[in-house]
Amino acid sequence: MIFDWPVRMQQMADFMGFSEEDLEMVRASGPLLLDRADELTSAVYDHFLRFPQTAQFFLTPDGEIDQTRLDRRKHSLARWLRHSIDFQLDEQFPVFLLAMGVVHSNPSLERGYLGSVPARFIIGTMSFAQTAIAGVLLEEMADPAQALRTSAAWNKLLMLQLDVLLAGYVTETPMPATEPPTPNDDRSDDEPEGMRRVLTNILDSNRSNGNANGASEQPQGDGQ
Ligand code: HEM
Repeated sequence: MIFDWPVRMQQMADFMGFSEEDLEMVRASGPLLLDRADELTSAVYDHFLRFPQTAQFFLTPDGEIDQTRLDRRKHSLARWLRHSIDFQLDEQFPVFLLAMGVVHSNPSLERGYLGSVPARFIIGTMSFAQTAIAGVLLEEMADPAQALRTSAAWNKLLMLQLDVLLAGYVTETPMPATEPPTPNDDRSDDEPEGMRRVLTNILDSNRSNGNANGASEQPQGDGQ
């Protein structure tokens, strides 16, 4: 893992091909998006409320919608949108993202009874945001080709952010690198180990059942 976060973000930006031109397109789209910031943030929270797994984070212990909390969160999301438009790869931005990741993965005492926000919903929200931003750009920009380019630039920026946001969840598999095999090493590829063996066994048994999708061919239930 790289813990020099600006260096890590720069490395990822290079890997994704997030260029100065992309950054300029993101900034140029700022006024269009900020004009519709209320609508964008409301769409995200309406979406959360549609699914019990995400709605629970915005309900009181009695199961009512917690409007105060919801309004506060919409405000936070609008702030995040503004920060993203003003994005620059400095020391501050990764700290903002890391703190945001930790806030979601480590519930405050007040909402400790809810536990962490599952990381998959952070990923899903980024996807939702990408789609919503693309929709606004297409509606607001006169040139659809420029809207597409700007949307691609936003997609990269949001994925760049997602990497650091999820670091608050420690998602990287904690397996240290081992020594590379030596030429005398007689570990054979025919003898898979660990998780690979489990996967190989599942695949082999599916294959021998003639079932490519992994669904069991055995009769379900009590067969009546
Ligand atoms: C792209 C994904 C997301 C972004 C950018 C985001 C952004 C934010 C921000 C900026 C804050 C305020 C942090 C602070 O200053 O204290 C916050 C807090 C919060 N968010 Fe999110 N959020 C995301 C996804 C989610 C999801 C999927 C949920 C749950 C369904 C969620 C639930 C919450 C809750 C409950 C808090 C309050 C935490 C606390 O004060 O204890 N967020 N979010």
